[in-house]
Amino acid sequence: MAAKVFVGGASARDVARGDIRIRRATLRNLEVLVHQRRGMWEDIADHTPEEHDRADRVYRAWARQRMKTGKLVGFLAEDGAGRVLGGGCVWLRENQPRPGWEDREMPYLLSMYTEPEHRGRGVATRIVREVVRWARDEGYRRMTLHASKQGRSLYKRLGWDRTWEMRMRLNEPRTPRRAPERARGTPRARRRSSGASRRPGARGTRASR
Ligand SMILES: CC(C)(COP(=O)(O)OP(=O)(O)OC[C@H]1O[C@@H](n2cnc3c(N)ncnc32)[C@H](O)[C@@H]1OP(=O)(O)O)[C@@H](O)C(=O)NCCC(=O)NCCS
Repeated sequence: MAAKVFVGGASARDVARGDIRIRRATLRNLEVLVHQRRGMWEDIADHTPEEHDRADRVYRAWARQRMKTGKLVGFLAEDGAGRVLGGGCVWLRENQPRPGWEDREMPYLLSMYTEPEHRGRGVATRIVREVVRWARDEGYRRMTLHASKQGRSLYKRLGWDRTWEMRMRLNEPRTPRRAPERARGTPRARRRSSGASRRPGARGTRASR
């Protein structure tokens, strides 16, 4: 599916900053969301058209089901004429229990995509700000995402922090690397050595575990 289908031939010049409007996507916009997801993957990874076609089918079914139950919320950026310039989705992921943290869900931002001819004009910035505002209003206290190289500076500029999430590829031979040692101990040991007692309600590290 070509990008032009959704941007309707709007040129970057047509879209002044103030013309960008962010709205929630509905199931009627599912094909736009599938297009944006594919566009994102085409830009950030190297897959064959057949792999993208397959991924489109899987994502379409995945997204449809979650939109119906409210677990996936899409946001679209449009110009004054209603032409779609970009978008992003929030997936409400189940959260594992941990001390001092009873939230059952955590919003995860995915599928951020701006049509190439409209990049560098604040479209994604507007979407991320709107998504964050929405998540706050819904009562969520934290959000996560996995940033592409292209997206990193955007998220950083908007106040997102890097975390310590790690991964291991289970289908490849293991190449263990030595992690640099830092004799800083556990949070409990640090509190003991500094003589600090635990504040009631203190949250510990920022990493999600
Ligand atoms: C990453 C991506 C979503 C950014 O979209 P975008 O609409 O171009 O983003 P913005 O315009 O809001 O911000 C991009 C740059 O434009 C500039 N910019 C922002 N608002 C601007 C404005 N009103 N006028 C002029 N320039 C502006 C900023 O300098 C910004 O650079 P910075 O992030 O280094 O600070 C887009 O490049 C894209 O779709 N990439 C391919 C898919 C991808 O990587 N998605 C992210 C997955 S995590």
